[in-house]
Amino acid sequence: MTKFDKKTMTEVRALFKRYAVKVHALLPVLHLVQRENGGYIPEGWAHYVAELCQTTVNHVRGVITFYNMFRTEPPGKYHIMVCTSVPCGLCGGDKVLEHLEHRLNLAPGQTSKDGLFSLEEVQCLAACDKAPLIQINAEVHERVTYDQIDALIEEAYRKPA
Ligand code: FES
Repeated sequence: MTKFDKKTMTEVRALFKRYAVKVHALLPVLHLVQRENGGYIPEGWAHYVAELCQTTVNHVRGVITFYNMFRTEPPGKYHIMVCTSVPCGLCGGDKVLEHLEHRLNLAPGQTSKDGLFSLEEVQCLAACDKAPLIQINAEVHERVTYDQIDALIEEAYRKPA
């Protein structure tokens, strides 16, 4: 359904109260859309959100495609984000990404055929003092080692969808 349910609409109304005009709540509203749709924003939602936030569909689409935190394709069950910004890069973030690419046989931006994993290279996840780090869905893994990464992957294979 291309529409928020009653419970989420309560959250949307609370957001609108925080801003002078509805369009200023566009980013958090889009995060709600993504949350409600399993981690991505299906095409049809741009019209609904534009109407809700009193803006144009092109504006909404522009925002969705500008920010890489918004996805237009379904992510894997385990969406793995690897930070390669300078602090993480200096602590091996690039090597962590290479390790995951090799382990999962995926390039950043790809999802495995079985839908279990998707891989994304991201910029700073705001925990630079704990570099290198990865985030799997909402869970951050700090100062990760290859062994920890391998264990996380094995654990995911043991409990697939
Ligand atoms: S640079 Fe990786 S979390 Fe900030």
